[in-house]
Amino acid sequence: MNTEELHHLIKEMTLEEKIGQMTQLAGYLYEESSSDVTGPLSGVNAPEFLDSTNGSIVGSYGAATIREIQSNYLEKSRLKIPLLFTADVIHGYRTIFPLPFAIGNSWNVDLAEKSAEVAAKESAVSGIHLTFSPMVDLTRDPRWGRVVESTGEDPYLNAEFSRAFVKGYQGDELGTDPMRIAACVKHFVAYGLSQGGREYNTVDVSERELLENHVSGFEAAIEAGVEMVMTSFNPVNGIPSTGNKKLIKGLLREKLGFDGVVISDWNSLGELITHGVAEDEIEAAQKALDATVDIEMMTFCYAAGFQQLLDENKISMDSIDASVMRILKLKNKLGLFEDPYRGLSEEKEKEVVFSDEHRQIAREVAEESIVLLKNEQNVLPLSTDKKVALIGPFGTDSNVLGTWYWRGEESEAVQLLDSLEERLDKDSLVYAKGSDITEGNKDWLEEAKAVAESADIVILALGEHAKMSGEAASRSNIQLPEAQLELVKKVKEAGKPMVAVLFNGRPLDLTGVVDEVDAIVETWFLGTESGHAISNVLYGDVNPSGKLTMSFPYNVGQIPVHYNHFKTGRPVEDGSEFKWLSRYLDVPNEPRYSFGYGLSYTTFEYGDMKLSSDTFSKEEGLTVEVTVRNTGQVAGKEIVQFYVQDLVGEVIRPVKELKGFEKIDLAPGESKDVRFTLTEDMVRYVHSNLEKKSDPGRFKVFIGSSSDEVQEKEVRLVN
Ligand code: GLC
Repeated sequence: MNTEELHHLIKEMTLEEKIGQMTQLAGYLYEESSSDVTGPLSGVNAPEFLDSTNGSIVGSYGAATIREIQSNYLEKSRLKIPLLFTADVIHGYRTIFPLPFAIGNSWNVDLAEKSAEVAAKESAVSGIHLTFSPMVDLTRDPRWGRVVESTGEDPYLNAEFSRAFVKGYQGDELGTDPMRIAACVKHFVAYGLSQGGREYNTVDVSERELLENHVSGFEAAIEAGVEMVMTSFNPVNGIPSTGNKKLIKGLLREKLGFDGVVISDWNSLGELITHGVAEDEIEAAQKALDATVDIEMMTFCYAAGFQQLLDENKISMDSIDASVMRILKLKNKLGLFEDPYRGLSEEKEKEVVFSDEHRQIAREVAEESIVLLKNEQNVLPLSTDKKVALIGPFGTDSNVLGTWYWRGEESEAVQLLDSLEERLDKDSLVYAKGSDITEGNKDWLEEAKAVAESADIVILALGEHAKMSGEAASRSNIQLPEAQLELVKKVKEAGKPMVAVLFNGRPLDLTGVVDEVDAIVETWFLGTESGHAISNVLYGDVNPSGKLTMSFPYNVGQIPVHYNHFKTGRPVEDGSEFKWLSRYLDVPNEPRYSFGYGLSYTTFEYGDMKLSSDTFSKEEGLTVEVTVRNTGQVAGKEIVQFYVQDLVGEVIRPVKELKGFEKIDLAPGESKDVRFTLTEDMVRYVHSNLEKKSDPGRFKVFIGSSSDEVQEKEVRLVN
């Protein structure tokens, strides 16, 4: 259809048909058995007329189911406007990839894009048109469960991954390839600042900080052509996003230039009433429409309020038509008017979904997402001639798919025990559960110690239950559950080398583990190929190359702790003991493990950094170069990081900001020159008047293997 025809179609539509397009129902209401519910269903009473006018569905899956729902619907639809099928394909459809947080730790945006492309293919043949991904909320509080869906604490890195995910889902031009699906970037905005890390809690952030650190992922997604934006549950400047005209119409559309579809989060439009900024559904509808929210997910304020609001001239039909046009344009771009079953194929579903090729890609992504945090005396990699005791709840626990695994089957996930059994002969491997994730008992502990005593080395498979992170899963204590800390202590009595393999959805307080073990392998939740990826790293088939994208605090009291912090007027420098400085009495200011940190089985040597000049300007940038050499015995990948500090700003500026990175692959003895270019636009920042621009003056450039392992030089931006 062309735009003229779409305008004509809108002219034909009744108000109920327009409201239908602007409402999204859960697939659960159509076909209970094959749909996921990801929000409150309390008192769902969808107005009758939506049965033949509803515009989109969330959470249905499967080619046959979606075909049936679509065809039944089209029979009832007067104007035959096809349903849009949406879902939370967050890290894979049925081939489950590592959670986004894990993928972020790979620093491999190409693999991130590849993972989204595979997810799109499996979704498209199963009938899904759009995914509510990527989630780009900046997160600096590991108490918050949705850290696991983000890519961490840095706005630049978030933007790089946001762009990659959108491109993977949508391709270069959505609509040309039926194996791609539309993406929805979320949650606009600053949801990651929920106070106390407590889910759905209040957010209070200055407009300047918001623009400086919390929109980069959305800007990148918009540049990449993202088709939809989802509003967040939280207030911004005192008004919940979903009813916040200044934020959605003003910032998102007018300032950031987004002209696609805006959808509320599940229930968030109706929650304007709960927040206490709308008297009733009528007022909630008015505020959300004024904000230009196009689709209301799983509440019915638009249905309840539009007629009255029109009668009272509180809203205009033009604003309703504008929303409907954006929705119809998305359906048109997907080709749904020509083919309501675009991409959907029961045959292809059988060969494409969960294919060996896709699992191979998932394993590769999983391997690159693993971060080696500790490796005393090079206890890793292991050799197969050593007898191993695998102990802990995650040896066989199917949680490895994580918290938002869409159609993944826990039974299809490769457990660590499975992969070790494939690799080791029978008498080289013993297993004991040792404890549940949260419960333990004396017998299990005794058995675990005995099993440890019978082996040469112990692998402790420890972690959080997948449901202890993700949505509605904040934790006030971010240590491992007590039962597992007891297990570590008990097994230590056996006096064998111990390797902790962690399965978790957030940075943890590793007290009770970090000083007890010789090595720590951070695996997050790696999805379907988890066991294979972990054992490939444990035995050195793969050299771990992941690096942290979020700081690990010493304890929860240290939060917020992140690398791109401000200096303060009384920084602790050079280990000063002077009393009157910004510090705690009981922990350092630095995190236990920093942003950008991760070990390898080889070593990398950085030559002296070289500058092309010590000045740069709007007209001419400068290059920063370093030679990196693999000085170890095995090949390895190194993530070379480039940071900048603005030494004097109109407002306070972070002590470091990531401005570039390159993941290089070096054979033993091989070296590579890595070069970054610093240009004036890279040092622009939001001033107190909200204008984004640079200031001439002094800067530091840093290059290194982690945010706290760098060389530095001073440069100057000149007019
Ligand atoms: C949930 C989440 C959102 C998800 C939506 C639809 O409440 O906040 O991320 O996409 O509902 O399932």
